Amino acid sequence: MGKQAVLAGATGLVGKALLGKLLADDQYERVYILVRKSTGRSHPKLTEMVVDFDRLEPDRPVLEGADVFCTLGTTIKKAGSREQFHKVDFAYPVKLAELAAAHGAEQYVIVTAMGSDTRSMFFYSRVKGETEARLRQLALPGLSILRPSLLTGEREEFRFGERAVEAAARALSFVFTGPLRKYKPIPADTVAEGMLLAARRGRRGVTVYESGDIADLVDRA
Ligand SMILES: NC(=O)c1ccc[n+]([C@@H]2O[C@H](COP(=O)([O-])OP(=O)(O)OC[C@H]3O[C@@H](n4cnc5c(N)ncnc54)[C@H](OP(=O)(O)O)[C@@H]3O)[C@@H](O)[C@H]2O)c1
Repeated sequence: MGKQAVLAGATGLVGKALLGKLLADDQYERVYILVRKSTGRSHPKLTEMVVDFDRLEPDRPVLEGADVFCTLGTTIKKAGSREQFHKVDFAYPVKLAELAAAHGAEQYVIVTAMGSDTRSMFFYSRVKGETEARLRQLALPGLSILRPSLLTGEREEFRFGERAVEAAARALSFVFTGPLRKYKPIPADTVAEGMLLAARRGRRGVTVYESGDIADLVDRA
């Protein structure tokens, strides 16, 4: 019998790419997406669960034995405050992981970001670091943490800062070799593929993939 996948963040840049891959992957018999608004998408393998992320409670049948993927995230500008940002980038991913651990999920695979560190001087990186630290404390059989650098891909919303850095990085692409490789912008599709491959590896314990490791994992597949 095939496995179940549960995805939170299916409407985002990485999440959308991942959803397409999960639906196309024969190892997954059923794909659940947790969304705050209906996407209107239909597919024979897809079950959309419209949820209130402040009261998240997917039950045992959904999470038991599942591979759980989290691509949730926001920006402080979009969220409107540090508190709201903290909710989306810390509280929701952590709550989902607690439920996953409590209800027998196999793997929890999450995208955080390059530079995630509880001691970072940057609020964004600190929150990502706190999320990782909390997830490490949970009794998850397998935890994969992917830390991409700047994501590239077609986004509906225009983010000037990200696009400016992307253009500069493209012009300076020869710089991103050797130890600087992890700073190279990475396509959201590659990150999505990396998440799928990380789950397929089925490793026990915690595995961290820096941006260059994600690219390697996908290149080698
Ligand atoms: N952008 C970058 O260059 C970059 C670099 C490194 C790491 N990352 C991290 O990678 C992850 C994925 O990034 P992305 O660019 O794919 O994100 P994205 O396109 O902004 O998508 C974010 C997802 O989170 C959901 N979300 C946002 N606010 C929410 C809320 N209040 N309640 C419930 N769901 C909410 C969105 O759902 P709705 O459609 O309902 O809003 C969407 O599905 C994030 O954690 C991000 O921090 C990003």
